[in-house]
This record gives sequence, structure tokens and C-alpha cells, in this order.
Amino acid sequence: MLDDTEGYVTEDGRKIGGVVMEMKNITLRFGGVVAIKDISFDIREGEIRAIIGPNGAGKSSMLNVISGFYHPQEGEVWYKGKKRPGMRPYQVAQQGIARTFQNIALFEGMSVLDNVMTGRIRQMSTGMFAQALWKGKAEQEEVENRETVEKVIDFLEIQHIRKTPVGRLPYGLKKRVELARALAAEPSILLLDEPMAGMNVEEKEDMSRFILDVNDEFGTTIALIEHDMGVVMDLSDRVVVMDYGKKIGDGSPDEVRSNQAVIDAYLGVQHD
Ligand SMILES: Nc1ncnc2c1ncn2[C@@H]1O[C@H](COP(=O)(O)OP(=O)(O)OP(=O)(O)O)[C@@H](O)[C@H]1O
Ligand SMILES: [Mg+2]
Repeated sequence: MLDDTEGYVTEDGRKIGGVVMEMKNITLRFGGVVAIKDISFDIREGEIRAIIGPNGAGKSSMLNVISGFYHPQEGEVWYKGKKRPGMRPYQVAQQGIARTFQNIALFEGMSVLDNVMTGRIRQMSTGMFAQALWKGKAEQEEVENRETVEKVIDFLEIQHIRKTPVGRLPYGLKKRVELARALAAEPSILLLDEPMAGMNVEEKEDMSRFILDVNDEFGTTIALIEHDMGVVMDLSDRVVVMDYGKKIGDGSPDEVRSNQAVIDAYLGVQHD
């Protein structure tokens, strides 16, 4: 068993830290539907943590609990060693947790640049009043926001489309712009809900590389939901497996792959 506070070094030399987030006995219901049943797992600093499972297993619901969109009826969320009180999504974002959505949620009529800029909202402390009273600070902030956004745009190799309205982009690039917007917030934890769904092989390879680069370059902790098992096995350090709202597996990709309950519920069956 790993100690909660101690990290370890992976086979390929990546440093994983102690536990940064802990879900404790989470239960989430929608009327009669139990989307999550008494699930516990943790996320370590710097790791890539995958959540997998069949359709309707409760994976997105779990990310929505982490990001403050859903509030579980039972259980606790611990972040950086403290129990998190009930929080609104913007408060969770302020704590350095950013996300992308299963269904792309961008402003289609706005340019790529402006969409990525919206990821900086949490950093824009100066409201209109302050801007009028203290122009210098607002200008300074604007410069910093621009710099971060440009850095992210370079990093994700989307310079050539920075002026293009998002609505005109092919699907794969839209997903990349969504990642860019999340990264613009400079999160310490990044939640990705099926970042590669609907992509062709080449687009998936690009996205996998970007996810690994983000983790490597910025040390960002990543929790991602993904159906493509090849991608999950390649990218993730540890995997949580859900089925009908329950946790049926948790461990390294190899451990999960050889877990009979996981094979029966998920790996052995056709899925998209
Ligand atoms: N806002 C909601 N209101 C009512 N039921 C919901 C809501 N969100 C999720 N559910 C239900 O909770 C269960 C889990 O859904 P969830 O979207 O978390 O699954 P998932 O594992 O992400 O599936 P998929 O792979 O299809 O995205 C489903 O039965 C779903 O219908
Ligand atoms: Mg989902």
C-alpha cells in the first residue's frame, strides 16, 4: 500500500506526489437513479488518473462532483488535506481545478483567441470600478492574461487558427480549443471528460501527446474519462473503473486489465 503523503517515481521516471484529492464514500442520486454508489478513491499530485466504465456508469457524474456541478447526498470531498465545504463551480475553479466537457461547450461565434481568453476569468480580479480607478493594475492584468493565453495557444499548436470563429473548426480542433481554455486558467488539477471521443486515430495521437506534455511541462494533475482502452493504458498512471455507479476496480493499468470484474463488465464487451 502506498502512503498517502509519500510519492513515488514511475517506471518512465515521472514523479508522482502524495494524495491531493480524496473522494470519500460519495453517493449521488437523481430522484430514483443512483448515479454514484458509495465510491471512494484518491488522486495523487502529478498523476494521470483515468476513470473508465460503460455508458451510464456514473463517470461524468463523478467529474461533476469534483468540479462542484453536482452535490452528492452522501460523502466527502477532501482537497489538499482539508474537507471541502459545499462549493459552487466557480469556487472550485478558484481553487485551481479546471475542466472540459463531454459535449463541447465553447462560444461558437467567437474566435479561438477569445474563447481561450474566457479561461482567464478567474484571474481577472479587476472589475469595471477598479479598472476606472486604477487603470495601471487593469492594464498589467490584461498583459499577463494575454501572455498566458498566447503561451497556451503556442503550446497546443493552434496559432494558425487563433482568429477563426470556433464554429468553423473541425471537431478535433474544437476539442483542442476546449483544452486550451481549461489550460489558460493554469489549473493544478485538470478534469477531462472524454477528450478524445469522436476523434480519428491521428487526432487521438495528437491529443494524447498534448495531455502528456501538459502533465510533464506544468506538472498538472489530470483526471480523465476515456473509452479508448489503448489510450487509457498508454496515458494513465492509475485507473478507477465504474459500473452502474459502483467502483469495481482501482489500480495500475495492468492491475485493472487483469481484474476479472472489470473484464466481465467492461473490457470484454463491445463499447464506444
Ligand atoms: N443531471 C442528471 N439528471 C438525472 N439523471 C442524471 C443526470 N446526470 C446523470 N444522470 C444519470 O446518472 C447516471 C450516470 O450518468 P453519467 O453521465 O455520469 O454516466 P457516464 O459514465 O458519464 O456515461 P457515458 O459514458 O455515456 O458518458 C445515468 O443513469 C444518467 O442518466
Ligand atoms: Mg459521461
